[in-house]
Amino acid sequence: MSKIIILGAHGLLGQNLVRQLSKSYNIYGFGIEPAGQFAIDRVMEYDRCDITDIDQLKSIKMNADCAAVINAAAYTNVDGAEDNPELAYKLNRDAIQNLLEVMPDDVPLVHVSTDYIFNGSAGPYREADPIDPQGVYAQSKWAGEKLLLDSGHPTIVIRPNVLYGNGERLTSSFVAWLVGELSAGRQVNIVDDQFNNPTYAKRLAEVTDLLISKRALGTWHFGSREVVSRYTFALKIADVFMLDATLIRPISTTKLGQRAPRPMKSGLVCDKLAGELNYSILPIHAELEMLREEMYAR
Ligand SMILES: NC(=O)c1ccc[n+]([C@@H]2O[C@H](COP(=O)([O-])OP(=O)(O)OC[C@H]3O[C@@H](n4cnc5c(N)ncnc54)[C@H](OP(=O)(O)O)[C@@H]3O)[C@@H](O)[C@H]2O)c1
Repeated sequence: MSKIIILGAHGLLGQNLVRQLSKSYNIYGFGIEPAGQFAIDRVMEYDRCDITDIDQLKSIKMNADCAAVINAAAYTNVDGAEDNPELAYKLNRDAIQNLLEVMPDDVPLVHVSTDYIFNGSAGPYREADPIDPQGVYAQSKWAGEKLLLDSGHPTIVIRPNVLYGNGERLTSSFVAWLVGELSAGRQVNIVDDQFNNPTYAKRLAEVTDLLISKRALGTWHFGSREVVSRYTFALKIADVFMLDATLIRPISTTKLGQRAPRPMKSGLVCDKLAGELNYSILPIHAELEMLREEMYAR
C-alpha cells in the first residue's frame, strides 16, 4: 500500500479524509495538537506538525512511495482573520511556501481552497472564472493557492463551499453548530441573502480519493446540486434532523453585521467533476440524510 500524508488531520475535512483514505492507503496524519492517538472510527497514531514551522515539515518523510500530501490545515476563522491578518497569512500563504520548499518534485500536493476567492457578485462560479477575494481570510487563501498554481509543482486544488460533516470537536461545521443550537431550543438568526451550494465533507473526502487515484491535476469545484440561501439550507437541516424550524429566523447580512465581507451570490459549478470524472453531484437533502445516518450510526 502506498502512503498518504494528511496535514491538519484533526479538522473537519482532515478527519473525513483519514476515514476515507485509510481504506486504500497507509495514512500518516499530522495535527497541530501534541502527538497521540486519533479515536475517530478506530484508534490511529498521529504526530504533531505545525505547518508554519519548516523544520517540522522537513522531518516528515515525503518520499517517492507517497501517493500525495494533502494540506487540510488552514486558518479558517473568517471573521477572526480581520483581527489576525498575520496569523491568517502565516498559515494560509507562508505555510504553502514552506510545503513547496520541502516537497519532492514528483509527489502531488492536494490543496483545499474556497469559494471565497470569488467576489460573490455573479455566482455560481466555474474553475476558470475571475478571482477577486474580499476580506483577509479570502485574500490569504488566494495568496496561498496562487503560490501553488504559479509554482509548477504537480497540484490538485479542490474548492468547496460551506463545508459541513461529521467529526469530533468541530469548530467550523455550520450543520453541527445549527443542530446543537436547535436541539438546545435556542433561536437562531440565519442570513437569507448569502447563496451557495454547500459541500458535504464525507463526499469531499471521496472526491479527493478519486482525484488522487486518477492523478487528476488541476482545479476542481465541488458542492451540492442546488444553490440555496443559508436560510433555506438551515430549513433543510431542521427538516432532515427533525428539529424545530420555527426557531430559525431570516436576517439580512447587513443586519447581522458579520465582521468580514461574504460572497453573497456564490456557489460552485461542478460540471467539470461530474463530466470528466463521472462523479454524481447530489441534492442537498440527499447529502443531509447521508450525514444524519452517519451521525446516528456511531
Ligand atoms: N469550513 C468551511 O466552511 C470551508 C469552506 C470552504 C473551504 N474550506 C477550506 O477547507 C479546508 C479545511 O477546512 P475545515 O473546515 O476542515 O477546517 P478546520 O476544521 O478548521 O480544520 C483546520 C485544521 O488545521 C489545523 N491547524 C491550525 N493551525 C495549524 C498549523 N499551524 N499547523 C497544522 N495544522 C493547523 C486546525 O487545528 P486547530 O483546530 O487545533 O486549530 C484544524 O484541525 C481549509 O483549507 C478551509 O479553508 C472550509
